[in-house]
Amino acid sequence: MKINGVAYRSVWVDPDDGFSVHVFDQTKLPWALDVLRFTEIDQVAAAIVSMQVRGAPLIGAVAAYGLALALRVDSSSDAMERDAARLASTRPTAINLRWAIERMLTRLRNTLPVDRVRIAYEEAGLICDEDAAQNEAIGRHGLQLIEQIATTKRAAGGDHTVNLLTHCNAGWIATVDWGTALAPIYMAHDAGIDVHVWVDETRPRNQGAALTAWELGSHGVGHTVISDNAGGHLMQRGDVDMVIVGTDRVTRQGDVANKIGTYLKALAAHDNSIPFWVALPSTTIDWTVTDGLSEIPIEQRGQDEVTHITGRADDGTVTRVQLTPDASDAANPAFDVTPARLVSGLITERGRCDASTEGLASLFPEHAGPRRS
Ligand code: MRU
Repeated sequence: MKINGVAYRSVWVDPDDGFSVHVFDQTKLPWALDVLRFTEIDQVAAAIVSMQVRGAPLIGAVAAYGLALALRVDSSSDAMERDAARLASTRPTAINLRWAIERMLTRLRNTLPVDRVRIAYEEAGLICDEDAAQNEAIGRHGLQLIEQIATTKRAAGGDHTVNLLTHCNAGWIATVDWGTALAPIYMAHDAGIDVHVWVDETRPRNQGAALTAWELGSHGVGHTVISDNAGGHLMQRGDVDMVIVGTDRVTRQGDVANKIGTYLKALAAHDNSIPFWVALPSTTIDWTVTDGLSEIPIEQRGQDEVTHITGRADDGTVTRVQLTPDASDAANPAFDVTPARLVSGLITERGRCDASTEGLASLFPEHAGPRRS
């Protein structure tokens, strides 16, 4: 995607030194567009934990490069397995992270230590290219849904703006390029469809207010930031035509883990007969789990993300302030699970399907049949 007319991906290898890895510091947006440079695994692991790098597909891609950086120091099999396990443990819910590390190991275990650095950079590059291509395909499949709504609204006369609601940030900054939930929105905007996006602020870390709003604004897409509690009300008033979100893990039967608060939006959409779509590359499907509620680990993050908030003061300084009484505890489950029955459908790089075992099997027949662990 472009920033001020210049095309970027969310992760890239330094073209001059050929090994260091660059990403945008997502904790600095929207106030600053800072680029981080990683030269060692410690920096990569710390950036994923602190969410300077975040978004399910992106953390997988960056962790793959983290393993390449580690192999530059020690390419023995023992070190490789240890470093891979360390990267895989940085965040528990997004399956893309484990998928990317497993894919790297599958290739590297069959490679002589002397060749591992070169092969690791090659494989990480392939993971990035494939993610960008998959998300572009998701954009095309999701665009058809927006086109259908636009056509229906135009035929009905009156306001033909397509009003979408999204939660958290599933845009290009959360992936290598394009994004998942935002890819169809970018394509609809580029195709001349009048789209407007309700952006859930997404407490506690405000990925919607900070990142999605920044992305959409940079691309010229009309949007309005809303408090997380506003979505149900807007749906009741008929101000939302479709909900579209990303995900960190989808199970064989189509249950969807995504940023905390997604489930409440799905409930409200269901109650108001509003389509609730989930966009994902197939790297987000965990074919080893079936029941999302009992089988997906939910990341519990620090209390400070709830008790404190960061923002820009009137004098322009970026400041962190406390919101809650000193003595109050806070809980911070970072994800929730939306049962498949509340999901209208899944948008993948291979097309759209029902959020069900049969739906996923129709698009991914190679994974149909009894589950393997
Ligand atoms: O904790 P985060 O910000 O990494 O959570 C991200 C999400 O919940 C996104 O919706 C998801 O990763 C999809 S990214 C295309």
